[in-house]
Amino acid sequence: MLVNIERHVSAAPRASDGPLPNLLIDGLGRVINSLRISVTDRCNFRCTYCMPEEVDFMQRDLLLSFEEITRFVRIVAPLGINKLRLTGGEPLVRKNLPELIRQLNTIDGINDIGMTTNGFFLKEHAQSLKEAGLHRINVSLDTLVTEKFVEITRRDALQNVLDGIRAADEAGFTPIKINAVAIRGFTEDEIPGFAELARNHGHQIRFIEFMPLDADNLWENQKVLPGREIIERINAIYPIEPVHNSQKEPATLYRFKDRKGGDIGIIPSVTEPFCDHCNRIRITSDGKLRTCLFSNSETDLRSMLRSDAGDDAIAHQVVEAVRNKEPGHKINQPDFIKPQRAMFSIGG
Ligand code: 5AD
Ligand code: SF4
Repeated sequence: MLVNIERHVSAAPRASDGPLPNLLIDGLGRVINSLRISVTDRCNFRCTYCMPEEVDFMQRDLLLSFEEITRFVRIVAPLGINKLRLTGGEPLVRKNLPELIRQLNTIDGINDIGMTTNGFFLKEHAQSLKEAGLHRINVSLDTLVTEKFVEITRRDALQNVLDGIRAADEAGFTPIKINAVAIRGFTEDEIPGFAELARNHGHQIRFIEFMPLDADNLWENQKVLPGREIIERINAIYPIEPVHNSQKEPATLYRFKDRKGGDIGIIPSVTEPFCDHCNRIRITSDGKLRTCLFSNSETDLRSMLRSDAGDDAIAHQVVEAVRNKEPGHKINQPDFIKPQRAMFSIGG
């Protein structure tokens, strides 16, 4: 049976009474206000934890156009989405991204637009992204050592990324968040360098536990470097203390006790999942709605966006999908099923 969105909306307070209540509430009572939008599955890097060396990318006509993305966001903003994040692949390989950001910024109710990038193209684009109204940038960077950078990304581009981070800083994206995937046997030696990067440049460094979303099936439990261990290792060099932040975000934050520089975050997706507090959904570059990073089913919105389906019918599909959002991932449980898509195709 169709849920009548009109009915919900008209029963809600008028705009003059303040924002509409969120209609995106899942079966467990979690309120969804954050949408991650993958704008392409293409990337100029080949990080081993994300992509295979050789990739068959999607045909371009399968990707949602900027108009389709903007229409979709216009439909979900009144349902309660107020926060967007653009992801890839690498979002900056999609041409004219600032134009999309400009369009998204005109939508009532959207008050925060972020982007997760590998940083390579930031030197060229940071300024225009700022001017287009992008609010926040996260840069993926797993190592500060040239050879290790080549090993993990299969590209020789550390300096480009560091230049990109500097350009983003100069364009006013502060604080920049740097995401490092935490891998046993790879990341331990990086910890002091990243701590110093946070202290000396004010960036927030966030360590994300390695998740089974790679294309080459390299993931195994022993390769996860637990967030807690990272915190202990940093604390042994530069004492840190927890930051009690009220914002709902997956990172647990710490600051240096001497208050120098930016915070350190850990995202313990594997060892201490935050699924109970999850507030997000995603749309892939080919227009499939995923209610979990680890979803094994998707809602095909592209077909709807390209049919004569009205906005209400699309809104209904989203409300329904959210109602059935997965309780959480089952990494490390016997019935865990790895998603068919790897990270680059889901959108980070
Ligand atoms: N495990 C954890 N994080 C990952 N990312 C990509 N693949 C994985 C994985 N298998 C992260 C990247 C980037 C974001 C897009 O997702 O480092 O920060
Ligand atoms: Fe590209 Fe990001 Fe995947 Fe690396 S993690 S291959 S930079 S999409």
